[in-house]
This record gives sequence, C-alpha cells and structure tokens, in this order.
Amino acid sequence: MGRKAAMRFAASILTALASASLALAHSPAGYTPSGTPIFPIPRDAHMEQSGNKFNIVAKNGTVIHVIESGGGSGSSAPGPSKRQMLSVAVDASASPAFNDTLQAFNATFVVPPLPTTFESQLFFLTGGIVLVDDNGPGLYMAAGLQYGGTNLQGGPYWTLAVILQGLPGTEFSQLTFGNVVANPGETYQFYTTIDNSMFPLDNFTWYVVGINSPTDPEKDVSFIGLVSDLESDGVTIAPIITMFRGQEEGVTQATDYPVGDMVFEDISVNLLGTGIPEGVTWGTSTNATMSPGLTVQVQTDGASDGKIAFGFPDSD
Ligand SMILES: *[C@@H]1O[C@H](CO)[C@@H](O)[C@H](O)[C@H]1NC(C)=O
Ligand SMILES: *[C@@H]1O[C@H](CO)[C@@H](O)[C@H](O)[C@H]1NC(C)=O
Ligand SMILES: *[C@@H]1O[C@H](CO)[C@@H](O)[C@H](O)[C@H]1NC(C)=O
Ligand SMILES: *[C@@H]1O[C@H](CO)[C@@H](O)[C@H](O)[C@H]1NC(C)=O
Ligand SMILES: *[C@@H]1O[C@H](CO)[C@@H](O)[C@H](O)[C@H]1NC(C)=O
Repeated sequence: MGRKAAMRFAASILTALASASLALAHSPAGYTPSGTPIFPIPRDAHMEQSGNKFNIVAKNGTVIHVIESGGGSGSSAPGPSKRQMLSVAVDASASPAFNDTLQAFNATFVVPPLPTTFESQLFFLTGGIVLVDDNGPGLYMAAGLQYGGTNLQGGPYWTLAVILQGLPGTEFSQLTFGNVVANPGETYQFYTTIDNSMFPLDNFTWYVVGINSPTDPEKDVSFIGLVSDLESDGVTIAPIITMFRGQEEGVTQATDYPVGDMVFEDISVNLLGTGIPEGVTWGTSTNATMSPGLTVQVQTDGASDGKIAFGFPDSD
C-alpha cells in the first residue's frame, strides 16, 4: 500500500476511533503580546496524526482542534490586529537517516539568567520532534522554556512550556498547565521518547515530549502525540526530524535578551533496536533578517553527548 493510501486508511481508522465526534473549531483563548492567536490545549489531551492533519483530541475522544500542515489551523476566529509576528530566529536540526524508529531524544539544559529589561518580549527555547507527513515537515511538537507572557502562562520570568507548531508557519498551540516557573541556574531534562501507555495502533507510534526536573518532581510537564509510521515503501518507520528551535517576538534591544547562552547538553538520539545512530550531524539555520538576533552553534556534533548552544546577543 502506498503511503498516501495507507495514511488515508489510517485516517479512516482514527475517524472511527474518534467516534461520532466532529471537529469543533474552537476559538483561540490565548494570544501572544503581539496578538498572534494561540490555541490552548488541555493538559490531558493528546495529538493524533491523521493524513496531513494533526488532531488535538480531548480525553473524552472529541477532536477539539485541528492543525494542518502548511500552517493552517482549525481555529479561524480573527485575533486582534498584529503588531509583530512570532519569528523563528534559529533552528538546529538533524534527520538521523532513520532506517530505524526513534526511541528517545534527550538533552539537559540550565535555565539562563533573566533579561535586564522587560517590555513584553517573548522567547520560546525548545527541543522537539518534527513529524513528517505526505507534504514534508508537518508539525513541530516541542517542550522547553518560555520567557515572557502569553495569555496562557508566563511573565517576566522563565516557565516550562509545551507547544505544537504547524509547519512551515509560526502559529502555535500551547499546552495549558499554569505557570511552572523555572529559576535561573536550575537544571532540567528535555526528553522525547516512545510512550507505551496509550492504546496501541498498527503503523503508528506514540511519542511523549516533556521536561522534568531531576530535583523537583512537581516540575514536570509533558504531552503525547501519535505519529504515523508508514513510509511509501511500506517500511514501518516514523520519519522524524529531531530539532532545537529558538523563537522570539517583541525584542527591540540587546538588554531584552539574557546574557550568555542557553546550552542543550548531553544530547542523545537513540533508535529502537539499534541504539545510537552513526553519522548524525546537526544542521543550523538562522533568520538573517532579525537584529540583533539569537545565534545557534553546534559545539559537539553527533548523536551522543552532543552540545548545541543558543547564543544571546551581547546585552552589556
Ligand atoms: C468532551 O470534552 C470536550 C473538551 O473538554 C468538551 O468540550 C465536550 O463537551 C466533551 N464532550 C462530551 C460528549 O462530553
Ligand atoms: C524572520 O524574521 C523576520 C523579521 O522578524 C520575520 O518577519 C520572519 O517571519 C522570520 N522568519 C521566520 C521563518 O520566522
Ligand atoms: C538506510 O537505508 C538506505 C537504503 O537501504 C541506505 O542507503 C542508508 O545507508 C541507510 N542509512 C543508514 C544510516 O543506515
Ligand atoms: C530519556 O528520557 C526518558 C525520560 O526521562 C528516560 O526514560 C530515558 O531513559 C532517557 N534516555 C536516555 C538515553 O537518556
Ligand atoms: C500497516 O502497514 C502494513 C504495511 O504497509 C499493511 O499491510 C497493514 O495493512 C497496515 N495496517 C493498518 C491497520 O493500516
């Protein structure tokens, strides 16, 4: 069966699983300071890939939101007029030539200092997986740090955040769990791993992305998503790209950034059955139109013990 046909078939199964529930176009209840709408995701919801759509499914099985690859979104309610856009500043990504299924993608990081000025700027510094569909990269499912406030969480401090971003757009949905404040200097573990707690489904794999604190069990946020596993040749391997992404909006001066950098360390990529893949290299891209702008640097390449840094512009 071709991948498209397989995905349609899978989509019909998922529709059946979602039973009589129809997709409801909920209005976004959150906005970034510049007015970009954010769809809030209840903490106990999960995501199901269905063809080129990513359905956000409530605990009772109702599809409450649809993210379409290409950047479109099931919530069409107009937001306030935009004065800025959430911008992707830097990406570091690797597609580890997966001939095997991703088992786990992990890293640790230390929370950076606070910026010295706050003027409603917003940062998302995250790691995650890019789920690929028939059109290519479809959705970035990520967890990490937020600085600044959306209507859903945050303020002039760092909080733990989980976001889903339809690609190649920059609009995102955000998991709602209130403020989990991360203090400068604290260490956290970022992880993506196969999750076996959900109902099994042929040709699909469940992944969880999350952040936890090695010292404080209360600081633990995560989200589960269903990823299609089918390649066009019928080989059941989820095409996944591992990624770190730095995003911002509303930055006007260097002091809006913290000093120094945010380093993802102990980066490891593990494949199911075969362990650490050979020959993984991280590629970076920087949005050159942003000034002064975040930077990204691969300090140690590869699939084990990797080190990638988001550099903040000199805020002295
Ligand atoms: C299912 O959950 C959603 C989201 O919480 C809610 O809006 C909907 O009314 C619920 N549906 C049923 C049938 O309980
Ligand atoms: C790059 O930055 C510019 C200026 O902030 C912004 O308009 C554009 O959307 C950004 N590109 C991406 C992919 O976010
Ligand atoms: C994956 O499989 C293809 C086709 O069999 C092969 O050319 C490639 O070298 C393999 N990649 C890795 C990382 O093993
Ligand atoms: C990755 O993180 C998960 C969740 O914390 C953990 O179960 C797993 O052992 C970690 N794997 C590696 C290779 O560090
Ligand atoms: C899973 O994929 C295999 C190989 O393409 C196919 O034969 C099988 O019918 C698929 N199962 C489902 C439930 O789609």
